[in-house]
Amino acid sequence: MHSHLTLHDDQTITLRGERFKVYLDRETLQQRVAELGEEISRDYDGKRPILIGVLNGAFMFLSDLMKTLRIDCEVDFLKLSSYGAEKITSGVVTELKKIDADLEGRHVLVVEDIIDTGLSMQYIMDIMYEQNPASVRSVTLLHKYEATEVDVPVNYVGFRIKNRFVVGYGLDYGQVGRNLPDLYVLDPNTD
Ligand code: PRP
Repeated sequence: MHSHLTLHDDQTITLRGERFKVYLDRETLQQRVAELGEEISRDYDGKRPILIGVLNGAFMFLSDLMKTLRIDCEVDFLKLSSYGAEKITSGVVTELKKIDADLEGRHVLVVEDIIDTGLSMQYIMDIMYEQNPASVRSVTLLHKYEATEVDVPVNYVGFRIKNRFVVGYGLDYGQVGRNLPDLYVLDPNTD
């Protein structure tokens, strides 16, 4: 099978014929994840939140984040049918995988890898509130603040980033690249 990923050095890769360079390295990511974990552990002290990971992109961030929590916590996942603002606003978006847990009376923390237009998070928030949880908050590793179309409140943000295409650490380019431990950005020099 033809390989889509080539690692050149510790800073650059080629993925699907495009050149990417490191944007946030693994140490920077882990450091920030640990800070978020500290903050979340403090805020939820004495509670037992349920983390809701949004598949697929959030799996790696959620895994690392959960390991930094020092409180009782649970985990479950949901998956939306597809990415794309049009699909969401036209109401075509559905849950490909629903949450199994009963969220009634629970403290829910939605975990995303990235917020772009904000439409996915808004849709997810609506699903959460329908289930009468005690509280709903959200955490995202990345927030493309310039791309926001709907102003959905986000309680914890790892990094506010420019409107650039990023890949790695759970985020994909045509489903590949999720395994990269660092976050990469499309190299502007090759645009
Ligand atoms: C990404 C990301 C969010 C959404 C953000 O998922 O994980 O769910 O897009 O974009 P928005 O703010 O414009 O709605 P994607 O559909 O790429 O699926 P994936 O997580 O499986 O890669």
